[in-house]
Amino acid sequence: MENADLRQAKLQINYHEPVMLAECLEGLRLSDASLVGGTFVDCTLGGGGHSYAIANKLSPAGTLHSFDRDEEAVAFATKRMATIPVEKSPKFVVHPVAFAKLGEEIAANSVDGILYDLGISSHQVDDSSRGFTFVGNNPLDLRMDRREGVSAQEWLRSVSADDLADALRKNADMDRAYKLATRLVEVAVKTAAENRDILPSDVKAIVEAVFPDKRRDVNSLLARVFQAVRMEVNGELAQIEQSLTAAVDCLKVGGRLVVMSYHSVEDRCVKDTCAKFEKACICPENLPVCMCGGNHQRLKKVNRKPILPSDEEIARNSRARSAKLRVYERV
Ligand SMILES: C[S@@+](CC[C@H](N)C(=O)[O-])C[C@H]1O[C@@H](n2cnc3c(N)ncnc32)[C@H](O)[C@@H]1O
Repeated sequence: MENADLRQAKLQINYHEPVMLAECLEGLRLSDASLVGGTFVDCTLGGGGHSYAIANKLSPAGTLHSFDRDEEAVAFATKRMATIPVEKSPKFVVHPVAFAKLGEEIAANSVDGILYDLGISSHQVDDSSRGFTFVGNNPLDLRMDRREGVSAQEWLRSVSADDLADALRKNADMDRAYKLATRLVEVAVKTAAENRDILPSDVKAIVEAVFPDKRRDVNSLLARVFQAVRMEVNGELAQIEQSLTAAVDCLKVGGRLVVMSYHSVEDRCVKDTCAKFEKACICPENLPVCMCGGNHQRLKKVNRKPILPSDEEIARNSRARSAKLRVYERV
């Protein structure tokens, strides 16, 4: 008979296997005995893999706040967190809202470590009814929180070709962005006139027409189109920037900010947002001498370069392949 821990681990891995788990815990300094009663935030609860491991490191005196805007993820992970024995479990507070609300939900200077595991979970991708994937040919939705905002289909029916081309370039570094955007807008109009949904097969036909070169991998091009649209529909870059800015206020001096991203656009947003807080001087660049006092630095890098997953982890979990982990300390 399997024991309860093994069953939990299998359940978790089916939902989403946490990436660079040991590296994230180390980044948060959770092996430091003085922090077991501390306060931590997981901004991306997902299947609860990282939250579960953080909670297991904390004592009952500690507190873990976990955010997710996806109500299915919150329901799944809350059940999983409830399996931690009461006598061992820290205070666990779920925030079923977007992490851009971090500054409204968490007090300033109150937190020892904050984790972000950005993007979407394997479960969100694998559940074709969520419309996150081109496998299954379900209508395009792509929202993490289906109670809010507009679906990808509605967005494609309202956006101009220029704005869509900008999104394809900005969010996925797409070439031939304007050509793709024009075709996508045409299909959005045509399917609306025919009173039918825009399907992934419509998008695939456009990608194949715009990139006829058989050496280009259609699935990876399609994944980039989906990524670009998903990032717009969920306002992902604005969410990251707003939340990281709030995170700097929430952290105590010495607290850690640990951020894992999965593609270059996300990583650039993390790097650029944090870079603003790494500067001691915030004077305009054209000022010949510093007038601000030069004491504005609020973050410092813990590792000069981002941490990457091991070959062994990539072989075990292909989703880890593109992960980059950045660790900062509040100064
Ligand atoms: C990669 S998964 C996290 C997986 C989790 N670390 C685990 O080990 O199971 C990312 C999660 O963050 C959530 N998410 C992404 N952007 C968000 C945002 N702006 N606000 C709140 N949740 C967000 C997604 O809904 C998804 O469940």
